[in-house]
Amino acid sequence: MDKKINIGIIGCGHWGPNFVRNFYSMPEAQVIGVCDLSPARLAQIKKAYPRLTVYRDYRRLLDKSSLDAVVVSTPASTHYKIAKEALEKKKHVLVEKPLSTDLGQAEDLIRISRKAGKVLMVGHTFLFNPAVNKIKEIISKKELGRIYYIHSRRTNLGPLRKDVNAVWDLSPHDISIINYILGQMPLEVSAYAQRFLTHKLDDVGFIILKYPKDVLVHIHASWLDPKKIREMVFIGNSKMLVYEDTDLSQPIKVYDKGVMEKRYERPYRSFKEFQLIIRDGLTDTVEVEKEEPLKRECRHFIDCIIEGREPLTDAEGGLNILKVLSAVDKSIARKGSFVKV
Ligand SMILES: NC(=O)c1ccc[n+]([C@@H]2O[C@H](COP(=O)([O-])OP(=O)(O)OC[C@H]3O[C@@H](n4cnc5c(N)ncnc54)[C@H](O)[C@@H]3O)[C@@H](O)[C@H]2O)c1
Repeated sequence: MDKKINIGIIGCGHWGPNFVRNFYSMPEAQVIGVCDLSPARLAQIKKAYPRLTVYRDYRRLLDKSSLDAVVVSTPASTHYKIAKEALEKKKHVLVEKPLSTDLGQAEDLIRISRKAGKVLMVGHTFLFNPAVNKIKEIISKKELGRIYYIHSRRTNLGPLRKDVNAVWDLSPHDISIINYILGQMPLEVSAYAQRFLTHKLDDVGFIILKYPKDVLVHIHASWLDPKKIREMVFIGNSKMLVYEDTDLSQPIKVYDKGVMEKRYERPYRSFKEFQLIIRDGLTDTVEVEKEEPLKRECRHFIDCIIEGREPLTDAEGGLNILKVLSAVDKSIARKGSFVKV
């Protein structure tokens, strides 16, 4: 294809510049504008990319007829409004997670994108992470056996957001990863969250999700923790897997560990005759490709536009995550009672 996809980035705070950098390096794309409310952010972008046109009002960018697609990397509460206007102006949209803060709004975006015949993709970056792809492969091949349970910790000291709480900020990552790996949605959730700092949003949340086939999941999301932890543990009946996203050289370790029941040939009559044996075998590190997940995500967005394909992280998947989060909200309001998804 000769024509480049002309792309604009809306929202250039902490995360947006990563899109600018990645699309800048792609031969099939041309970044034609960057937009942010903050003149200071725009000045920084202009310093790094002097030939780039910058805008404070995203509507001026959307009005450009040469613009094919936009990335919306603004705070979650603004995703719906900006993505809707972009789709209505017939632009392809890659919107950051969460797709929206409201189920009805997300459904609206799906309707508008279908009517416009434009790609609507959600920035669930972890689905483009080679480590996550590898874990899906390992689990699909039943190398861990049957999955008993999964627990995930996504903690740090801040950064605090002003529009969504820690659960809405952090756990879309865990939920998107687990839905993708298990290929299923949770059936019900129980959650408890609390605020400890001076602002109005919960900074710590604990979520339990029950998936089909009795797979139990626990997620700890926190902005109030001394350590930045991005760890997921998958416990199977034959092996166990630990994924540490912060370990850049060896993010996945597979432990050949388990607890086996040693049964006597004849039925056992007492606890003494029943023994649990710990199997403590080798630990394998798994080879994982080192490509930046966001780069793969950006390339996928461009491929979907060029080939008219549905993205891996389509808006339906983004809506599914909102369905889980809204059940989580209901459970938090009911002090942790189980709520069906
Ligand atoms: N996929 C990931 O791994 C990942 C990582 C970090 C952040 N995110 C998501 O990216 C989004 C942005 O996060 P962030 O950490 O960069 O936030 P941020 O607050 O650092 O930056 C947001 C920027 O958007 C700008 N903005 C707000 N309203 C705007 C508007 N109407 N027009 C133009 N600009 C506007 C702000 O001035 C700010 O510079 C969030 O949805 C967040 O959840 C995703």
